[in-house]
Amino acid sequence: MWRKLENLKKIAESGIVLIIRSESEQEALAVAEAAIEGGIQVLEITMSVPNALQVINKLAVKYPDVLIGAGTILDAETARAAILAGAELLVSPQLNPDMIKMANRYQAVTVSGAFTAKEIIESLETGADIVKLFPAEAVGPQYVKAIKAPVPQAAITPTGGVTPQNVHEWLKAGCVGVGVGSYITKAAQKDGDYRKVTAAAKEFLEAVAAARQ
Ligand code: 3PG
Repeated sequence: MWRKLENLKKIAESGIVLIIRSESEQEALAVAEAAIEGGIQVLEITMSVPNALQVINKLAVKYPDVLIGAGTILDAETARAAILAGAELLVSPQLNPDMIKMANRYQAVTVSGAFTAKEIIESLETGADIVKLFPAEAVGPQYVKAIKAPVPQAAITPTGGVTPQNVHEWLKAGCVGVGVGSYITKAAQKDGDYRKVTAAAKEFLEAVAAARQ
């Protein structure tokens, strides 16, 4: 219970959930380590990464102070396997009551994908901690503002197309944090220089801090 509260606080304070969707285990680990070096406190390894459970386990063991999650969870079995591997955060692209139920049994934090007002409210009713607005770039920060008028209690993290340049608009619209993928994870794609991932993570965290001032 208390661990879950600490994890929720970690998401709220750090403001970024990093989504690692790599093509190999090695790349996922290298990106995660470089991003953590840059200050990332919360990350999810998507289940599409080869050997995702091993990656989650290695990171959970090596970085006990970082909130390690599993993404693209589509069923309860995968949710349980991810929890056993060390994930304390479970993310689904759509409302998945089986995942939420399993996560709540073990007090893992849930980020549930939703798009419409109906999906957002159903996510909250089902017990999701955070609603992941996806694909966020299709609607923009104004959409969050509109949704939060009747549903101010929704903790929303927009995902898809969020950058250091536009993150202040999302936070100003009332988002609790943001989901970030390619801006950070693909920074070393061209030349394999993972210091660029570290630099991109720092840049993003600075943009979040500046937006919150
Ligand atoms: C994902 O699921 O990979 C996210 O949508 C990432 O979006 P981004 O790469 O635009 O940040």
